[in-house]
Amino acid sequence: MSKTKSAFFCQSCGYESAKWLGKCPSCNNWNTFVEEVIVKGSDKKEKDEWASYKRDPKIKTISINEVSSAEEKRIFTYDSELNRVLGGGIVTGSIVLVAGEPGIGKSTLFLQVGLQLKDIVTLYVSGEESEQQIKMRADRVGIKSEIFFLLTETDTKTIFQEIKKLKPQLVIIDSIQTLQSPFVESGPGSISQIRETAAELQRFAKETNTPVFLIGHITKDGTIAGPKILEHMVDTVLQFEGDRHYAYRILRTLKNRFGSTAELGIYEMSGDGMRAVTNPSEILITQKEDALSGIAIAATIEGMRPLLIETQALVTQSVYGTPQRTVSGFDLRRLQLLLAVLEKRGGFHFGVKDVFVNIAGGLKIEDPSIDLAIVCALLSSYEDVPLPQHICFAGEVGLSGEIRAVNRIEQRIAEAEKLGFEKIIVSRYNAKSLPKQKMNIEVIALSKVEEVYQYLF
Ligand code: TYD
Ligand code: MG
Repeated sequence: MSKTKSAFFCQSCGYESAKWLGKCPSCNNWNTFVEEVIVKGSDKKEKDEWASYKRDPKIKTISINEVSSAEEKRIFTYDSELNRVLGGGIVTGSIVLVAGEPGIGKSTLFLQVGLQLKDIVTLYVSGEESEQQIKMRADRVGIKSEIFFLLTETDTKTIFQEIKKLKPQLVIIDSIQTLQSPFVESGPGSISQIRETAAELQRFAKETNTPVFLIGHITKDGTIAGPKILEHMVDTVLQFEGDRHYAYRILRTLKNRFGSTAELGIYEMSGDGMRAVTNPSEILITQKEDALSGIAIAATIEGMRPLLIETQALVTQSVYGTPQRTVSGFDLRRLQLLLAVLEKRGGFHFGVKDVFVNIAGGLKIEDPSIDLAIVCALLSSYEDVPLPQHICFAGEVGLSGEIRAVNRIEQRIAEAEKLGFEKIIVSRYNAKSLPKQKMNIEVIALSKVEEVYQYLF
């Protein structure tokens, strides 16, 4: 009998080593190696056998011309946002990883998606909640389906037995971190366990042409818990994000073998499940009567969609020696950079001020075009002068205070126009390429932050 094999795995990146290491040579993290048992004795031989390629007499290679090019089949869900982020529906046989922080609404969304598919046999495997809990949630969502099946199980052997009996057309696994394969001894959630169970599900998806959704947790620092390998194994990686204290959620595509990664879906968590938000800009701008200082509207593009969003800044006299900089939804280092630019190029003394920056709705915006709106919100709060209403901004701010051009400016302008804005401030370099047609919005092209200041105050 062969011995049980074990190896050490970096819990942060999945690097495998035969002996314990203090520092991971792959991701440079310290003290991340944990011993995990991988193959049980009896299976070792079996694995050795198929691994030796010399023995197999059957040729499996095929000329690319002989492969019949089938049109990829897709299942259209009733959720337009999900269809969009997947690149137009669920591709059959694809394996999709959905990652998000606990409590963000992953289980709710996919329960809902499964229940809505009334002509697709769906199997929802939960290793986290009891049948009653899931039923309670389904009642809350308020959708009924005759062909939606539940399985509360974590052992992959039992799961595959049930799958064989039921023959589902869609499988949802909640979550990959709870699964346990009998071929690996280490506990659920460990690197080798995640790798093995994901591989088993991948094989199942490809062989039976059944799409599989894997729900996964992410760690505090925002990375998907489990090895990077998991991201390589799946066809599509979706990230579900948002602030738990706000209702809005963003579903972002990080990787997609069947579509663009620039897509994004916006949802609102309501009392009865997740609701797709079709007019995000209108909701994200607070409708107010009188103008307040420290507020500026940014015309951003998130994914493929233009999104007008409110940025808020508060600049106050610092009480302590070291001024505070606090951000929510915006990169702290980016804020420090913008403050340094304003200090150096404009002579504003932010060094003695506390600065707070907030993006409305609890969203995280990655588009650099938000810079100009942040700068204007900061200046507005600094001067305590409200900005004129019906004006919005789209521009990246460079280190010398220059306003840099941003992509897809026409789309941003069109969205601002649609929402009734009268003016938009953009980079001079952007304005050059604009078509000279008559618009209901005035496009103001400026090239430096100083010019913006003079224009506004
Ligand atoms: P859940 O889907 O369990 O999150 P995850 O699977 O990502 O951990 O969502 C949990 C939160 O959603 C919980 O705080 C309650 C809230 N919720 C609603 O606000 N409305 C609803 O209809 C449902 C089902 C949940
Ligand atoms: Mg859950």
